[in-house]
Amino acid sequence: MKIGILTSGGDCPGLNAVIRGAVLKGIKSHDQEFVGFRDGWRGVVEGNIIDLPRHAVRGISKQGGTILGTSRTNPFDGNGGPEAIKATMDRLGVDSMIAIGGEGTLAAAKRLTDAGLKIVGVPKTVDNDLDATDYTFGFDTAVQIATEAIDRLRTTGESHSRCMVAEVMGRHVGWIALHAGMASGAHAILIPEQQTSMEQIAEWVMDARDRGRAPLVVVAEGFVPTHMDEAHSDRGLDTYGRPRLGGIADQLAPEIESRTGIETRATVLGHIQRGGVPSAFDRVLATRLGMAAVDSVVEGLWGTMVSLHGTEIARVGFEAALGNLKRVPQQRYEEAAILFG
Ligand code: F6P
Repeated sequence: MKIGILTSGGDCPGLNAVIRGAVLKGIKSHDQEFVGFRDGWRGVVEGNIIDLPRHAVRGISKQGGTILGTSRTNPFDGNGGPEAIKATMDRLGVDSMIAIGGEGTLAAAKRLTDAGLKIVGVPKTVDNDLDATDYTFGFDTAVQIATEAIDRLRTTGESHSRCMVAEVMGRHVGWIALHAGMASGAHAILIPEQQTSMEQIAEWVMDARDRGRAPLVVVAEGFVPTHMDEAHSDRGLDTYGRPRLGGIADQLAPEIESRTGIETRATVLGHIQRGGVPSAFDRVLATRLGMAAVDSVVEGLWGTMVSLHGTEIARVGFEAALGNLKRVPQQRYEEAAILFG
């Protein structure tokens, strides 16, 4: 059996560990062969593949990015669609696919599976916003990177008695902000799930300052203050037609400064959070998910994705993965908010 692997959507530390886990388990336990589709669904539509023998995955679990490349290509656009993809897979001798990606990728995989293609999924999102899995690989690494960066902002903020505003990723959900903010002892954590007024933010900043601290605010890119209707975006749209986020920290900083009189600086961490080597936790999780995806192929569990439930790897249907975003629950926010100010 020849299996094609693709990585699609925004990249994420741990993608290569999934690929390695799948290839090693498939070769060792099931005598399978592997190819990789280049640049996500684009490689599937164009039939652009590379061979993935065992030596191609040697040592890659600690490597950031994806050796296959990725894109936000929609497999139903242009020359795509199930018939064309089926014909391409037949020509290449590829029987089935492992699609590693987020909501957009899994939605496309569901449509293709419904049309008869043999696909299993591996969830990927640095934002940790997929509901059907407890954690996604890449999230732990992003939190580590953000925490280290915020710790550094803290010392320069303290030296100058400034308020520092650190912006992290999180389009729809605030998991990175919540975890990195708690880990770094932020005086305010601002997330998409909780609209917050400038008055409240200024109050937390003043409280911290009054106790002799250099105030630290951690904000997710998708945060919406009460005086705004939607997340800040001035960078146009991405290829899925979604607003490109980033820059809310630059909007908040002058507002905080004018309300509190405290000199304030903003830092947008951006794609640094998605780059570089994955954490040990992410390497292990990604490897286990890759191995489990191969088992799903052997069992013919088309239309399902592997996921983490507690410490066990489970299988869930694509529809369960696509139904809901995993938002930060009210209780988790309130728990963190005890520490604000
Ligand atoms: O979905 C993950 C994510 O990192 C979001 O947090 C962010 O808005 C987006 O991807 C950035 O995408 P791109 O890499 O296309 O700029």
